[in-house]
Amino acid sequence: VIVQRFAVPFEYPVHFTEEVLRPENRTLVEVIARCEPERRHRALVVVDEGLAASRPGLVEEIEAYFAAHADRLRLAGEVMRVPGGEAVKNDPAHVDRVRTRLYELHLDRQSFVVVFGGGAVQDMAGYAAATVHRGMRVVRLPSTVLAQNDAGLGVKNGISAFGTKNSLGTFAPPFAVIDDFALLSTLSRRDRIAGIAEAVKVALIRDAEFFAWLREKAGDLAALEEDATRWMVRRCAELHLRHIATGGDPFELGSTRPLDFGHWAAHRLEILSENRLRHGEAVAIGIALDSRYSVEAGLLSSGAFEEIFELLGTFGLPRYHELLAERDETGERRVFSGLDDFREHLGGELAVTLLARIGQGIEVHEIDRSAMERSIDWLAGR
Ligand SMILES: NC(=O)c1ccc[n+]([C@@H]2O[C@H](COP(=O)([O-])OP(=O)(O)OC[C@H]3O[C@@H](n4cnc5c(N)ncnc54)[C@H](O)[C@@H]3O)[C@@H](O)[C@H]2O)c1
Ligand SMILES: [Zn+2]
Repeated sequence: VIVQRFAVPFEYPVHFTEEVLRPENRTLVEVIARCEPERRHRALVVVDEGLAASRPGLVEEIEAYFAAHADRLRLAGEVMRVPGGEAVKNDPAHVDRVRTRLYELHLDRQSFVVVFGGGAVQDMAGYAAATVHRGMRVVRLPSTVLAQNDAGLGVKNGISAFGTKNSLGTFAPPFAVIDDFALLSTLSRRDRIAGIAEAVKVALIRDAEFFAWLREKAGDLAALEEDATRWMVRRCAELHLRHIATGGDPFELGSTRPLDFGHWAAHRLEILSENRLRHGEAVAIGIALDSRYSVEAGLLSSGAFEEIFELLGTFGLPRYHELLAERDETGERRVFSGLDDFREHLGGELAVTLLARIGQGIEVHEIDRSAMERSIDWLAGR
């Protein structure tokens, strides 16, 4: 036998800036040119329609930026617009269109795909870029709170297929990420609030102090106050990145996925609601449910649960949805198929993160469905 063994280190910068497209802001050009500072780099820029529509002139701003840095940057073709939101992950035509364009523009493995958009567009375009020529360099510019504090930072991409979220995709670390806080200014209140759910999630499993801070600043955050939002995004990004770097399993080879606290129900609720629920909103409901279940399972105190429940409420995040009560023909709650999806997706035995206390997640391998039903009924009662 020959045992083949090698390790590949990964490294990518995550920058925090404001007004990344002002010509005098050098973040983007330096990020792209960081490995070959003398070369002129070709890029296809992909933008989220939702962002483009609410920021008229975005395409012109991008063109002007590339023109101002023409010594280092070159647009390989016209800026490409793709629909925003889950629609772009639900129809494979979009990923196909991006792949075709990358191929037809003769972009190579050293070329860049620069993506401005929410988590859905990041996931879709990242997947397209990861599979053309077996992977191109991706620079992500997340444009939602959720994408800046979570979806845009990590090593995963993908689209939805077979009626299941994220069932096609790859692990592909980006070349760089740039969080431009000013991009968030056009975001709807609904999407800004939805993104806070991921902050609550990471605080609950990792950082009690951050949770206390979220409680203290809940009013400011709910009012979309800028400094508080900026700090929340930043702290959440740090915790998320630290988990990927030091959690021991960046490519999820094992069957646990602690950052997906609350997500087994969330992913199912997104599908069951035909995406009327935003990812962040579904996560808030998933957090409420798995926190309540943690109480039912004797892991979490009801006092701690009340703090969580109340905080989600202060943000105006949903904590229950009637779809949780729906049953299929066999009398089983429809949402429970999310547990099966979750296990199948990761392989091995089921692993669900619950809470031992605020700031500390705990892995369990079994969910008692009648206790989960009681948790749903409890939430319904509230
Ligand atoms: N890959 C990962 O690790 C990971 C992690 C978490 C979530 N996700 C995925 O991210 C997706 C959710 O992302 P999201 O919460 O960013 O929502 P989203 O991408 O669905 O965007 C929400 C809406 O905001 C619009 N939009 C985006 N930026 C805007 C801006 N600046 N101004 C105005 N409108 C804007 C979009 O067009 C869309 O209509 C889900 O598909 C989820 O599965 C992926
Ligand atoms: Zn999520």
